[in-house]
Amino acid sequence: MVNEYEIKKEICDIGKRIYNRGMVASNDGNISVKLNDHEFLCTPTGVSKGFMTPEYICKVDENGNVIQANKGFKPSSEIKMHMRVYKERPDVNSVVHAHPMYATAFAIAGIPLTQPIMPEAVIALGCVPIAEYGTPSTEEIPNAVSKYLQHFDAVLLENHGALAYSDSLLSAYHKMESVEFYAQLLFLSRQLGGPKELSKAQVERLYEIRRKFGMKGKHPADVCLNMKDGKPSCHSCGSCSGNCSSSGSADSDLVAEITKKVMKELGL
Ligand code: 13P
Repeated sequence: MVNEYEIKKEICDIGKRIYNRGMVASNDGNISVKLNDHEFLCTPTGVSKGFMTPEYICKVDENGNVIQANKGFKPSSEIKMHMRVYKERPDVNSVVHAHPMYATAFAIAGIPLTQPIMPEAVIALGCVPIAEYGTPSTEEIPNAVSKYLQHFDAVLLENHGALAYSDSLLSAYHKMESVEFYAQLLFLSRQLGGPKELSKAQVERLYEIRRKFGMKGKHPADVCLNMKDGKPSCHSCGSCSGNCSSSGSADSDLVAEITKKVMKELGL
């Protein structure tokens, strides 16, 4: 039997962490935990996640309808996004949404986190795609995220922030931390002249380690659509659910980015 009060305290602790680490400003971000198929705890809307106490936490059903909420508290405005993750990923027990500075900057610039630059990020996350922009609180975000759920455990939300989910609250939070750390390193190494990427062979060896450890969750090492087609698994395409291609590389990414910018300048 889960001790709900303990879980509420844990949600408050993680709220403090995301706030104190600058992963959210003001009242931003939201957190949820699955108790069972019909009951979920979630943060309330419009409060700072850095200053919550267990009384703040709301309980909802699988459709996001309120089961219990103390006076003055309503479930997060993004509850539909959380519920879509639980619906489509039965292995997930917790969802964390935040606006970490560097990851969100990539989401705003429209650049997915696809360059394989360090072993930990490759093993823990693979690549992190960008789910197409949607208006917060509507079905647009759940619909945009849905496409990536079967292939990734973290996605950037275009012009908005990041979403991470896992089998426990701590693990979902750690994924968010890893996304932000990876984004920060990628940003800084780009300032220093561009990262020296790991080779395809080095990435494949890291994927092998992940498989050997039987790490849980979805990751390009296990589910890259290229691999399913018998082609080498890609790390760099950043869109496994869309136009997966094994030709992704720093150069081709750069050419694609420059082409996009030039075409935009020319109004094409
Ligand atoms: P809530 O306070 O409603 O959870 O919304 C915060 C947020 O970050 C929306 O994207």
